[in-house]
Amino acid sequence: MTADLGTLVGQALGAAVRAPSPHNTQPWRFEIARDRVDVLLDPARVLAVADPDGREARLACGAAALNLVLSLRAGGRKVSTTVLPDPNRTDLLVSVRITGPAEPDATELDLAAHIARRHTNRRPFTERGVPARARQHLVAAAAEEGAKLHLVDDWARYDAIAGLVRTADRVQSTDERFTAETRHWTGRAPGAPEGVPAAAAGPPASLEPALTLRHYAGEAQLPEREYEQQPLIAAVLTPTDSPAQQIRAGFAVQRVLLTATRLGLSASFLSQPLEVASTREALRRLFRDDGEPHALLRIGYGFATPHASRRPVSEVTG
Ligand SMILES: Cc1cc2nc3c(=O)[nH]c(=O)nc-3n(C[C@H](O)[C@H](O)[C@H](O)COP(=O)(O)O)c2cc1C
Repeated sequence: MTADLGTLVGQALGAAVRAPSPHNTQPWRFEIARDRVDVLLDPARVLAVADPDGREARLACGAAALNLVLSLRAGGRKVSTTVLPDPNRTDLLVSVRITGPAEPDATELDLAAHIARRHTNRRPFTERGVPARARQHLVAAAAEEGAKLHLVDDWARYDAIAGLVRTADRVQSTDERFTAETRHWTGRAPGAPEGVPAAAAGPPASLEPALTLRHYAGEAQLPEREYEQQPLIAAVLTPTDSPAQQIRAGFAVQRVLLTATRLGLSASFLSQPLEVASTREALRRLFRDDGEPHALLRIGYGFATPHASRRPVSEVTG
Protein backbone atom coordinates (compact mmCIF):
# COMPACT_ATOMS: atom_id res chain seq x y z
CA MET A 1 0.00 0.00 0.00
CA THR A 2 1.36 3.47 -0.85
CA ALA A 3 1.35 6.38 1.59
CA ASP A 4 -1.32 9.09 1.22
CA LEU A 5 -0.41 12.09 -0.91
CA GLY A 6 0.04 14.55 1.98
CA THR A 7 2.52 12.24 3.72
CA LEU A 8 4.37 11.61 0.46
CA VAL A 9 4.68 15.32 -0.35
CA GLY A 10 5.96 15.95 3.18
CA GLN A 11 8.62 13.26 2.73
CA ALA A 12 9.51 14.61 -0.73
CA LEU A 13 10.03 18.12 0.67
CA GLY A 14 12.31 16.64 3.34
CA ALA A 15 14.28 15.04 0.49
CA ALA A 16 14.31 18.24 -1.60
CA VAL A 17 16.03 20.30 1.10
CA ARG A 18 18.85 17.72 1.31
CA ALA A 19 20.13 19.02 -2.05
CA PRO A 20 23.57 20.66 -2.19
CA SER A 21 23.72 24.47 -2.42
CA PRO A 22 26.56 27.01 -2.44
CA HIS A 23 27.75 27.39 1.20
CA ASN A 24 24.56 25.55 2.21
CA THR A 25 22.53 28.75 1.67
CA GLN A 26 19.49 26.65 0.64
CA PRO A 27 18.21 29.28 -1.85
CA TRP A 28 14.77 27.72 -2.33
CA ARG A 29 11.13 27.90 -1.35
CA PHE A 30 8.32 25.52 -2.18
CA GLU A 31 4.64 26.18 -2.90
CA ILE A 32 2.26 23.27 -2.61
CA ALA A 33 -0.97 22.92 -4.57
CA ARG A 34 -3.28 19.88 -4.73
CA ASP A 35 -1.32 17.87 -7.32
CA ARG A 36 1.74 20.09 -7.75
CA VAL A 37 4.82 21.35 -5.91
CA ASP A 38 6.52 24.47 -7.26
CA VAL A 39 10.22 25.11 -6.61
CA LEU A 40 11.01 28.81 -6.28
CA LEU A 41 14.26 30.73 -6.04
CA ASP A 42 14.73 32.67 -2.79
CA PRO A 43 16.64 35.74 -4.05
CA ALA A 44 17.59 36.77 -0.49
CA ARG A 45 19.77 33.63 -0.32
CA VAL A 46 21.75 34.12 -3.52
CA LEU A 47 25.45 34.78 -2.76
CA ALA A 48 25.98 38.42 -3.79
CA VAL A 49 29.74 38.11 -4.39
CA ALA A 50 30.33 34.52 -5.53
CA ASP A 51 27.09 34.15 -7.50
CA PRO A 52 25.78 37.62 -8.49
CA ASP A 53 23.69 36.26 -11.40
CA GLY A 54 22.12 33.47 -9.34
CA ARG A 55 23.53 30.75 -11.63
CA GLU A 56 24.65 28.47 -8.79
CA ALA A 57 21.44 29.10 -6.86
CA ARG A 58 19.39 27.99 -9.89
CA LEU A 59 21.57 24.89 -10.16
CA ALA A 60 20.94 24.13 -6.47
CA CYS A 61 17.17 24.52 -7.01
CA GLY A 62 17.37 22.10 -9.94
CA ALA A 63 19.09 19.60 -7.64
CA ALA A 64 16.33 20.10 -5.04
CA ALA A 65 13.68 19.54 -7.74
CA LEU A 66 15.30 16.22 -8.74
CA ASN A 67 15.22 15.05 -5.10
CA LEU A 68 11.53 15.97 -5.00
CA VAL A 69 10.84 14.02 -8.20
CA LEU A 70 12.79 10.93 -7.10
CA SER A 71 11.13 10.88 -3.72
CA LEU A 72 7.61 11.15 -5.21
CA ARG A 73 8.38 8.43 -7.78
CA ALA A 74 9.80 6.19 -5.04
CA GLY A 75 6.45 6.68 -3.29
CA GLY A 76 4.62 5.24 -6.30
CA ARG A 77 3.62 8.42 -8.13
CA LYS A 78 3.97 9.38 -11.77
CA VAL A 79 5.57 12.81 -11.96
CA SER A 80 6.27 15.33 -14.72
CA THR A 81 8.36 18.50 -14.51
CA THR A 82 8.25 21.86 -16.29
CA VAL A 83 11.27 24.15 -16.05
CA LEU A 84 10.45 27.90 -15.94
CA PRO A 85 6.72 27.28 -16.50
CA ASP A 86 5.72 30.98 -16.38
CA PRO A 87 7.65 33.43 -18.59
CA ASN A 88 6.47 36.29 -16.36
CA ARG A 89 7.89 34.77 -13.18
CA THR A 90 11.67 34.27 -13.22
CA ASP A 91 11.60 33.10 -9.58
CA LEU A 92 9.31 30.14 -10.37
CA LEU A 93 11.97 27.65 -11.48
CA VAL A 94 10.31 24.22 -11.65
CA SER A 95 6.75 22.88 -11.44
CA VAL A 96 6.61 19.27 -10.33
CA ARG A 97 3.21 17.78 -11.19
CA ILE A 98 1.87 14.52 -9.82
CA THR A 99 -0.13 12.89 -12.61
CA GLY A 100 -1.14 9.52 -11.19
CA PRO A 101 0.12 6.25 -9.70
CA ALA A 102 3.16 4.41 -11.14
CA GLU A 103 5.35 1.47 -10.20
CA PRO A 104 8.77 2.89 -9.15
CA ASP A 105 11.81 2.14 -11.27
CA ALA A 106 14.39 0.09 -9.31
CA THR A 107 17.31 2.46 -10.02
CA GLU A 108 15.31 5.52 -9.03
CA LEU A 109 14.13 3.79 -5.84
CA ASP A 110 17.76 3.20 -4.96
CA LEU A 111 18.79 6.77 -5.82
CA ALA A 112 15.97 8.11 -3.61
CA ALA A 113 17.23 5.92 -0.77
CA HIS A 114 20.65 7.61 -1.06
CA ILE A 115 19.43 11.24 -0.86
CA ALA A 116 20.03 11.50 2.89
CA ARG A 117 23.46 9.86 2.60
CA ARG A 118 24.88 12.10 -0.15
CA HIS A 119 27.10 14.88 1.15
CA THR A 120 30.06 16.94 0.05
CA ASN A 121 33.39 15.41 1.08
CA ARG A 122 36.21 17.99 1.23
CA ARG A 123 38.69 15.66 2.93
CA PRO A 124 41.52 13.75 1.23
CA PHE A 125 40.48 10.76 -0.87
CA THR A 126 42.36 7.47 -1.21
CA GLU A 127 44.51 6.89 -4.31
CA ARG A 128 42.10 4.25 -5.67
CA GLY A 129 40.92 5.18 -9.17
CA VAL A 130 37.25 5.16 -10.21
CA PRO A 131 36.65 1.87 -12.12
CA ALA A 132 35.35 1.83 -15.71
CA ARG A 133 31.90 0.45 -14.77
CA ALA A 134 31.35 3.21 -12.18
CA ARG A 135 32.46 5.83 -14.71
CA GLN A 136 29.86 4.51 -17.17
CA HIS A 137 27.12 4.80 -14.54
CA LEU A 138 28.11 8.41 -13.77
CA VAL A 139 28.09 9.38 -17.45
CA ALA A 140 24.71 7.66 -17.95
CA ALA A 141 23.27 9.53 -14.94
CA ALA A 142 24.02 12.92 -16.51
CA ALA A 143 22.69 11.73 -19.90
CA GLU A 144 19.43 10.68 -18.24
CA GLU A 145 18.90 14.38 -17.41
CA GLY A 146 19.85 15.58 -20.90
CA ALA A 147 23.36 16.69 -19.87
CA LYS A 148 26.86 15.49 -20.58
CA LEU A 149 29.40 14.36 -17.99
CA HIS A 150 32.89 14.83 -19.35
CA LEU A 151 35.45 12.78 -17.39
CA VAL A 152 38.75 14.57 -17.80
CA ASP A 153 41.31 11.93 -18.80
CA ASP A 154 43.40 14.02 -21.12
CA TRP A 155 46.48 15.13 -19.13
CA ALA A 156 46.83 18.49 -20.84
CA ARG A 157 43.20 19.36 -20.14
CA TYR A 158 43.46 18.04 -16.57
CA ASP A 159 46.44 20.27 -15.87
CA ALA A 160 44.80 23.24 -17.58
CA ILE A 161 41.75 22.86 -15.30
CA ALA A 162 43.94 22.42 -12.20
CA GLY A 163 45.72 25.65 -13.22
CA LEU A 164 42.41 27.52 -13.62
CA VAL A 165 41.25 26.29 -10.19
CA ARG A 166 44.50 27.59 -8.65
CA THR A 167 44.29 30.94 -10.45
CA ALA A 168 40.63 31.51 -9.52
CA ASP A 169 41.28 30.45 -5.93
CA ARG A 170 44.09 33.02 -5.71
CA VAL A 171 41.86 35.77 -7.14
CA GLN A 172 39.07 34.93 -4.71
CA SER A 173 41.25 34.57 -1.63
CA THR A 174 42.68 38.08 -2.14
CA ASP A 175 39.22 39.62 -2.63
CA GLU A 176 38.04 41.08 0.69
CA ARG A 177 34.35 40.91 -0.24
CA PHE A 178 34.65 37.29 -1.30
CA THR A 179 36.50 36.16 1.82
CA ALA A 180 34.04 38.04 4.06
CA GLU A 181 31.13 36.24 2.36
CA THR A 182 32.82 32.84 2.76
CA ARG A 183 33.64 33.56 6.43
CA HIS A 184 30.03 34.55 7.04
CA TRP A 185 28.61 31.27 5.70
CA THR A 186 31.25 28.78 6.92
CA GLY A 187 32.88 27.71 10.19
CA ARG A 188 29.43 27.20 11.73
CA ALA A 189 28.70 25.17 14.87
CA PRO A 190 27.71 21.48 14.58
CA GLY A 191 24.02 21.16 13.70
CA ALA A 192 23.71 24.78 12.46
CA PRO A 193 20.60 24.85 10.24
CA GLU A 194 22.36 26.68 7.39
CA GLY A 195 25.92 27.42 6.27
CA VAL A 196 28.85 25.00 6.36
CA PRO A 197 29.84 23.57 9.78
CA ALA A 198 33.53 23.87 10.68
CA ALA A 199 33.72 20.07 10.92
CA ALA A 200 32.75 19.70 7.22
CA ALA A 201 35.86 21.60 6.08
CA GLY A 202 38.84 19.66 4.75
CA PRO A 203 42.15 19.66 6.67
CA PRO A 204 44.91 22.03 5.52
CA ALA A 205 47.13 20.34 2.90
CA SER A 206 50.64 19.32 4.00
CA LEU A 207 51.82 19.23 0.35
CA GLU A 208 50.30 21.34 -2.40
CA PRO A 209 47.45 19.15 -3.75
CA ALA A 210 46.78 18.62 -7.48
CA LEU A 211 43.46 20.44 -7.08
CA THR A 212 43.12 23.47 -4.83
CA LEU A 213 40.00 22.98 -2.74
CA ARG A 214 38.19 26.07 -1.49
CA HIS A 215 39.28 27.18 1.98
CA TYR A 216 36.58 27.14 4.62
CA ALA A 217 36.55 28.63 8.11
CA GLY A 218 37.28 25.79 10.52
CA GLU A 219 39.88 23.89 8.49
CA ALA A 220 42.76 25.38 10.48
CA GLN A 221 41.52 23.47 13.54
CA LEU A 222 42.33 20.16 11.81
CA PRO A 223 45.84 18.68 11.56
CA GLU A 224 47.51 18.93 8.14
CA ARG A 225 47.03 16.00 5.77
CA GLU A 226 48.29 15.01 2.33
CA TYR A 227 45.66 14.97 -0.44
CA GLU A 228 45.36 12.38 -3.22
CA GLN A 229 47.54 12.69 -6.33
CA GLN A 230 44.96 12.71 -9.09
CA PRO A 231 41.26 12.56 -8.29
CA LEU A 232 38.80 12.20 -11.16
CA ILE A 233 37.61 15.57 -12.47
CA ALA A 234 34.12 15.48 -13.99
CA ALA A 235 32.54 18.43 -15.80
CA VAL A 236 28.76 18.73 -16.12
CA LEU A 237 27.88 20.32 -19.47
CA THR A 238 24.71 21.24 -21.32
CA PRO A 239 24.37 22.33 -24.95
CA THR A 240 23.97 26.06 -24.17
CA ASP A 241 23.86 28.46 -21.23
CA SER A 242 20.54 29.94 -20.05
CA PRO A 243 18.59 29.98 -16.78
CA ALA A 244 16.65 26.90 -17.96
CA GLN A 245 19.89 25.05 -18.79
CA GLN A 246 21.36 26.00 -15.41
CA ILE A 247 18.33 24.44 -13.69
CA ARG A 248 18.60 21.35 -15.92
CA ALA A 249 22.29 21.14 -15.06
CA GLY A 250 21.22 21.03 -11.40
CA PHE A 251 19.06 17.96 -12.12
CA ALA A 252 22.08 16.33 -13.79
CA VAL A 253 24.60 17.24 -11.05
CA GLN A 254 22.27 15.77 -8.45
CA ARG A 255 21.66 12.53 -10.38
CA VAL A 256 25.44 12.18 -10.81
CA LEU A 257 26.07 12.83 -7.10
CA LEU A 258 23.38 10.35 -6.00
CA THR A 259 24.76 7.76 -8.42
CA ALA A 260 28.24 8.35 -6.99
CA THR A 261 26.89 7.90 -3.44
CA ARG A 262 25.18 4.68 -4.50
CA LEU A 263 28.50 3.42 -5.91
CA GLY A 264 30.34 4.19 -2.67
CA LEU A 265 32.11 7.22 -4.17
CA SER A 266 32.70 10.61 -2.57
CA ALA A 267 32.55 13.97 -4.32
CA SER A 268 33.18 17.65 -3.81
CA PHE A 269 32.79 20.72 -6.03
CA LEU A 270 35.54 22.82 -7.61
CA SER A 271 33.57 26.00 -8.31
CA GLN A 272 36.29 28.65 -8.12
CA PRO A 273 37.01 28.86 -11.90
CA LEU A 274 33.29 29.14 -12.68
CA GLU A 275 32.90 32.10 -10.33
CA VAL A 276 35.72 34.31 -11.65
CA ALA A 277 34.95 35.91 -15.05
CA SER A 278 38.37 35.38 -16.67
CA THR A 279 38.80 31.74 -15.62
CA ARG A 280 35.19 31.00 -16.48
CA GLU A 281 35.85 32.23 -20.00
CA ALA A 282 39.01 30.09 -20.21
CA LEU A 283 37.06 27.07 -18.97
CA ARG A 284 34.37 27.66 -21.61
CA ARG A 285 37.08 27.74 -24.28
CA LEU A 286 38.53 24.45 -22.98
CA PHE A 287 35.11 22.78 -23.36
CA ARG A 288 34.17 24.65 -26.54
CA ASP A 289 33.54 21.41 -28.47
CA ASP A 290 31.70 19.64 -25.63
CA GLY A 291 29.14 22.13 -24.31
CA GLU A 292 28.64 24.78 -21.67
CA PRO A 293 30.30 23.92 -18.32
CA HIS A 294 28.08 24.34 -15.23
CA ALA A 295 29.92 22.41 -12.53
CA LEU A 296 33.26 20.75 -11.89
CA LEU A 297 33.31 17.80 -9.53
CA ARG A 298 36.17 15.98 -7.80
CA ILE A 299 35.26 12.32 -7.46
CA GLY A 300 37.01 9.45 -5.68
CA TYR A 301 36.93 7.15 -2.67
CA GLY A 302 36.85 8.98 0.67
CA PHE A 303 36.31 8.45 4.38
CA ALA A 304 33.23 9.33 6.44
CA THR A 305 32.82 13.06 7.13
CA PRO A 306 30.28 15.09 9.12
CA HIS A 307 27.14 16.23 7.28
CA ALA A 308 25.75 19.78 7.04
CA SER A 309 22.25 20.27 8.51
CA ARG A 310 19.25 21.98 6.92
CA ARG A 311 16.51 24.43 7.88
CA PRO A 312 13.24 22.67 8.71
CA VAL A 313 10.79 22.19 5.82
CA SER A 314 8.29 24.45 7.62
CA GLU A 315 10.64 27.40 6.97
CA VAL A 316 10.70 26.91 3.22
CA THR A 317 7.07 26.15 2.46
CA GLY A 318 4.00 28.35 2.27
C1 LIG B 1 26.55 25.17 -7.33
C2 LIG B 1 27.31 24.68 -6.13
C3 LIG B 1 28.64 25.05 -5.98
C4 LIG B 1 29.39 24.56 -4.89
N1 LIG B 1 30.72 24.87 -4.80
C5 LIG B 1 31.47 24.32 -3.83
C6 LIG B 1 32.89 24.51 -3.80
O1 LIG B 1 33.46 25.18 -4.65
N2 LIG B 1 33.59 23.88 -2.83
C7 LIG B 1 32.98 23.06 -1.91
O2 LIG B 1 33.68 22.50 -1.07
N3 LIG B 1 31.65 22.89 -1.90
C8 LIG B 1 30.89 23.47 -2.85
N4 LIG B 1 29.55 23.22 -2.90
C9 LIG B 1 28.96 22.30 -1.91
C10 LIG B 1 28.19 23.02 -0.82
O3 LIG B 1 29.05 23.74 0.04
C11 LIG B 1 27.35 21.98 -0.05
O4 LIG B 1 26.44 21.41 -0.94
C12 LIG B 1 26.59 22.55 1.12
O5 LIG B 1 27.46 23.03 2.10
C13 LIG B 1 25.68 21.50 1.75
O6 LIG B 1 26.43 20.40 2.20
P1 LIG B 1 26.24 18.92 1.65
O7 LIG B 1 26.49 18.95 0.17
O8 LIG B 1 27.30 18.15 2.38
O9 LIG B 1 24.86 18.47 1.95
C14 LIG B 1 28.77 23.71 -3.94
C15 LIG B 1 27.42 23.37 -4.09
C16 LIG B 1 26.70 23.83 -5.18
C17 LIG B 1 25.28 23.40 -5.37
